[in-house]
Amino acid sequence: MIQRKLEVTYLPFDRTTRVPPGTTLFSAAHWIGLPIDSTCGGRGTCGKCKVRVIRGGADAETADHRQLRPAEIADGWRLSCQARIYQDMTCEVPQLLRVPKAATMGLGRLVILDPNVRKVYLELREPTMEDQRSDVARLKDALTEEGHGMVAGVSVLRTMPQVFREAGFRVTAVLAGEHLVAIESGDTTGECYGVAFDVGTTTLVGTLMNLRTGMAASVLSTLNGQAPFGADVISRISHGMNGPEAIQELQEAVIGTMNTILAELYRDSGVSPQQTYEAVVVGNVTMLHLLFGIDPTPLSMAPFTPAFMDELSIEAREVGLQIHPHGYIQTLPALGAYVGADIVGGVLATGVAREDKLRVFVDVGTNGEIVLGNAQRALATAAPAGPAFEGSQIKCGMRATVGAIEGVQLGDRVELQVIGGDVPAEGICGSGLVDAVAQLLLAGLLDYSGRFKKPEDVPDHPLHDRLIDVDGMRAFVLADGVYLTQRDIRELQFAKGSIATGIKVLMDILGVTAKDLDEVLLGGSFGSYLNPESAKIIGLVPPVDVDRIIAVGNSAGEGAKIALLSYRERQVAFELPSRIEYVELSGRSDFNDSFISVLAFPQLEHVP
Ligand code: FES
Repeated sequence: MIQRKLEVTYLPFDRTTRVPPGTTLFSAAHWIGLPIDSTCGGRGTCGKCKVRVIRGGADAETADHRQLRPAEIADGWRLSCQARIYQDMTCEVPQLLRVPKAATMGLGRLVILDPNVRKVYLELREPTMEDQRSDVARLKDALTEEGHGMVAGVSVLRTMPQVFREAGFRVTAVLAGEHLVAIESGDTTGECYGVAFDVGTTTLVGTLMNLRTGMAASVLSTLNGQAPFGADVISRISHGMNGPEAIQELQEAVIGTMNTILAELYRDSGVSPQQTYEAVVVGNVTMLHLLFGIDPTPLSMAPFTPAFMDELSIEAREVGLQIHPHGYIQTLPALGAYVGADIVGGVLATGVAREDKLRVFVDVGTNGEIVLGNAQRALATAAPAGPAFEGSQIKCGMRATVGAIEGVQLGDRVELQVIGGDVPAEGICGSGLVDAVAQLLLAGLLDYSGRFKKPEDVPDHPLHDRLIDVDGMRAFVLADGVYLTQRDIRELQFAKGSIATGIKVLMDILGVTAKDLDEVLLGGSFGSYLNPESAKIIGLVPPVDVDRIIAVGNSAGEGAKIALLSYRERQVAFELPSRIEYVELSGRSDFNDSFISVLAFPQLEHVP
């Protein structure tokens, strides 16, 4: 259950937001795009984030007493990163002390460049008989002076005495949050990298990011090495059921793929693993379980309970990921067993649930993951669509590779767009299927219930002779040896019906209709290739103006990059599960009723 939200207003901007109890004033401000100054990442050590509480109250914490003067505390000043909201509040934000650097990410979002990984160059005082502080105390004191907290593990301590002395006590401390990742000789602040991974069931995308500039240094995608164990999540889980060795096999396959990508990224950019301090990873819940070698079996059966859904941070070497030996892997949280960190990445990248615009974000695949809402209220669900959109269980279906029909236009003749250009069509992929069915509906060769017309019903239609019989079933010929059968149309109806039902159930809960929607966002690689008009004609997405249906590309990967570049945005991602209500579709009586009602295709005169 989502708790009652509290209202907080920021002056002099007069901006108000509503947040779950316990959110800090610092993160709540970031939710609505108000940057409050900070150099410590919200850890209470820099003292830069102070605000004055005017209405409501927040107890002064230890960090407040350390960073603020007693008179300031008495006057209502608090560190916004420590002050949690437990009642409606108003506070005043001082002018920014510095202009934060920003980077523009995929969807035109401006992200404040403030990575979790920080490098601090220090010229330490050399020890003397009068100053016999330990190396680590010397470092810690210097970092505290700069506003950074620090925790050092024994593995970094091992390197410290030598580096300090060889470098004449001029060193760069590399911090991931408060963890000391490395001590480097001299000033290395100019070189700082991280990697963002989108671990998909089919494809992995890795982007090496320059954390100083916010730019991508190199990007690469490749097939998931788990492919030999099955194409989808369920077959991977089934393989994992063979015991711990099988889970280890799946883990090694995905880590192996990530390391192959890393090796290529390093080669392409000239960056070394030692300069890459953090990896932010998104993926569906099963992929993240397998990445950490955790048994995902319970995900495959009711009540679908994963081992974990929260964000996780572990040392990269624990799973053998080849970045800096003391670097970290950070995952984003999931919203539900089938709405994973990849969708949280997508929500982060698109700003759904943070803006006033009412939007629905749909990632179409074997499951349709759906997030609907705005800053006031947001809901998420997963609708089981089956493999039709991936070209499986379709007679001439194939994956979106060379030879697949990806676009169809029906006029006096059939015009096809085939992946690879001038190559013969070998089959049809998901986007081609959606296009073909939309075109068949427009051409009047398919009725709204999803039944093919008989050739004798449309004798004057220029394409009537393409309606043939295959194994006693009506079919439409698209190209030599490539056709769509009546059963294929039914498969598509079930797939789109399931997703459309998921959207409808969420819209009903929010009490909104298609007219209220500002935008429909199509995520995932399938969403990028889908023709928005066709998606609307077959009723996969609600009937809104076609220019409001927007393909948002690999938004999961964009979200991972954003979380890598900005700890504030990362914090927003961590808070999304408490902001977005998860709706379980199975077992809902309105799911079945709505499903039946959306199986048919919309009547064209009802599609604006
Ligand atoms: S003290 Fe640094 S952000 Fe609050």
